[in-house]
Amino acid sequence: MSSINYTDRIPNNVNLANDRALQRALEHWQPRFLNWWQESGPSDFNAADVFLRTAIGVDAKGWADYGQVAMPDYRWGIFMADREADRTIGFGDMMGQPVWQSVPGEFRSTLRRFIVTQGDTEPASVEQQRLLGHIAPSLYDMRNLFQINVEEGRHLWAMVYLLHAHFGRDGREEAEELLERHSGDPDNSRILGTFNEPIDDWLSLYMFTYFTDRDGKFQLKSFAESAFDPLSRTCRFMLTEEAHHMFVGDTGIGRIVKRTLELMQQLKTDDPEAIRKAGCIDLPLLQRYINFWFTSSLDLFGSEDSSNAAAAFANGLKGRPDETRYADHVEKESIYELAVPDAEWTGSDAGILTREVPMRNAMNEEVRSSYVKDCELGFKRWNRAIERAGFDFRLTLPSVRFRRSIGAWAGVPISPTGERISQQAYDENLPNWIPSEQDRAYVKSLMVKVHEPGKMANWIAPPDRGINNKAIDYEYVCL
Ligand SMILES: [Fe+2]
Ligand SMILES: [Fe+2]
Repeated sequence: MSSINYTDRIPNNVNLANDRALQRALEHWQPRFLNWWQESGPSDFNAADVFLRTAIGVDAKGWADYGQVAMPDYRWGIFMADREADRTIGFGDMMGQPVWQSVPGEFRSTLRRFIVTQGDTEPASVEQQRLLGHIAPSLYDMRNLFQINVEEGRHLWAMVYLLHAHFGRDGREEAEELLERHSGDPDNSRILGTFNEPIDDWLSLYMFTYFTDRDGKFQLKSFAESAFDPLSRTCRFMLTEEAHHMFVGDTGIGRIVKRTLELMQQLKTDDPEAIRKAGCIDLPLLQRYINFWFTSSLDLFGSEDSSNAAAAFANGLKGRPDETRYADHVEKESIYELAVPDAEWTGSDAGILTREVPMRNAMNEEVRSSYVKDCELGFKRWNRAIERAGFDFRLTLPSVRFRRSIGAWAGVPISPTGERISQQAYDENLPNWIPSEQDRAYVKSLMVKVHEPGKMANWIAPPDRGINNKAIDYEYVCL
């Protein structure tokens, strides 16, 4: 295993010291990154010691070290999974040929766009979450937020390294621009819609880490298959870190469900008003947040029928997550049955048609379907808990066609259960399907800081266990 060099100014396992020009270029970018962290990161907490993990190796076992670190002292660096000897391209027209260690000229602009788009999401999420520390429901949660923030910062480093190392002057310019765009900035926004949505309460954070970080997982898994080996190796190590981000979302939503059920049993009611009077999050409110964040994240996968996706697959740039699970890695003749809206719909039938498209064109939809299955896992657990508590309510994922802004279903009025409805019915009901202003204001009113070790805000149950064998009442952040 290649070890991580922490004696360099920029920790790395890519032998940066051997390439002085690249090292200098990255050392030039480093202070700009730190400036960005000061201006756009959770810098109100710079003085606090936080119980953070830091990567010390890149293999699955024992890859991180835990200790109290002030966030500005976190060692952001460049870590890649080890190179696999004789790795070959695993899909597409060049299947079986050796993978590439440098960027082929004909794919340069496409790969650069992929890396920039992925890289842009990383600092965007830190910007979206920068004030949440002030209203953390516990020190345990605050620490998890900061862990995610420093790791998203590191993921930016991962992409900037690829830009600097493989894309010359264009790459360096793109790396600068990654620090210039800002989440929600009307003049210079982040590239993807979801990453411009404000996250100013912890319910939104758990939704974001459950649904949007999971989109990240699927993007990274697609890139982990790439014929461009440095991208593949970078993404494989990022996935190790990403698992914790989804854990925060999964357990966060689970702890809200647990707390609300306790209260519902105690009060012997599922009446949302009664739950709100007692200062907790009623399940229908939770469902509306799910509807919002799930649909917003679905758009990140792109259009159902996409010639760009087909080309990226054919050329070996971007594969399907866990490509080895598929029987056919070339998919030259395969057909995909795609559901599309009937343009002629008069309201007399379902208004949904099936169209056959080449499998390669439907890659985005294929990856989106795997993502949806992955999203369902948490729901099974939460609904079991609701059932055991003796209530009929069930949390569900809305239809993938509901409230879409990108692709075949963009702007088509569809109910959360997937029926095509009139525009009027859609407009009238939408405020009941996604959080209303009142819902958001209520959730905001619940957000209070809880800074005593082991204590939790009223609306959320404690976690089952602490971090890295520490007790739940360990002082995860020393303020
Ligand atoms: Fe990330
Ligand atoms: Fe993440």
